[in-house]
Amino acid sequence: VTAAATAISLVIGAGAALASCDEGEIVIKFSHVTNTDKHPKGIAASLLQQRVNDEMNGKACMEVYPNSTLYNDDQVLEAMLQGDVQLAAPSLSKFEKFTKKFRIFDLPFMFKNMESVDAFQSSEKGQEMLGSMERRGLKGMGFWHNGLKQFSANKPLLTPADAAGLKFRVQPSDVLVAQMEALGASPQPMAFSEVYGALQTGVVDGQENTWSNIYGQKFFEVQDGITETNHGVLDYMVVTSVDWWDSLDEDVRTQLATIFDEVTAERNAAIAEVDAANRQAILDAGGVIRELNAEQRAAWVEAMKPVWEQFEGDVGTENIEAAQSINA
Ligand code: LMR
Repeated sequence: VTAAATAISLVIGAGAALASCDEGEIVIKFSHVTNTDKHPKGIAASLLQQRVNDEMNGKACMEVYPNSTLYNDDQVLEAMLQGDVQLAAPSLSKFEKFTKKFRIFDLPFMFKNMESVDAFQSSEKGQEMLGSMERRGLKGMGFWHNGLKQFSANKPLLTPADAAGLKFRVQPSDVLVAQMEALGASPQPMAFSEVYGALQTGVVDGQENTWSNIYGQKFFEVQDGITETNHGVLDYMVVTSVDWWDSLDEDVRTQLATIFDEVTAERNAAIAEVDAANRQAILDAGGVIRELNAEQRAAWVEAMKPVWEQFEGDVGTENIEAAQSINA
């Protein structure tokens, strides 16, 4: 690594954690859309990068491009199939167009907490999903956690009626569109990098996301408050291209997979702590968080749960039953 190469990567990276790769090393570009500091995906990606660059030095080199600096989630899988990027970790909502079974993760109130999400993903049914896009050229390496979603808006949201008539940004997902329609709200699918601006200028009134995304993107600054609904899951699948993976030498593949699995286990085990730290960071920065009482929460469940029926055929009754028995 020369001083000039470091200087260049500092300029290009503009805050992105770019490593300078040496000649002969396999370059692994990891593109994602969130911040790095305090964020579960940002932290996991940085740890993966650090371990690959330390332990596989001379063989492989990882460059992480966070904050949508390289691609948005709607471009990254195409870029991966073209060989322009080797790793990405889009949220599970973004895989629904490939495999409808992924819709289970977007169904409101499907999982009680992150332990249930983890148990479902680790079950045979969850693990099968990792391989479900191989015929499309994408290989799921594993699931990374983010957390449960909360609603925020430019007015207080305590009952579902408060959301009626408002415009909400959603991830591009038919389930999330149906969920907002069930509330009488107007869903606006939009890329993550555009949400802050859309909230600020009033293009949308509200959004749903996890504590780490609400804190990391500073949504709380341009919202009246956040309601702690815990109504859905936002988790990730780390993917690579089947062609690229198969092109690696066996020893490189084994070492990379081992490091990946260890980083995944370590960071997924820390999710409750990271989630709580982001929630607290919102409060410390002056954001407003509203908690629901049991009656208010029951009203949100009643308004949104009928969405399950619309998607039961896509998701599979047996998967819904498996998720519910894990919750119990
Ligand atoms: C979103 O689009 O809101 C999230 O999927 C962003 C992310 O990667 O957490």
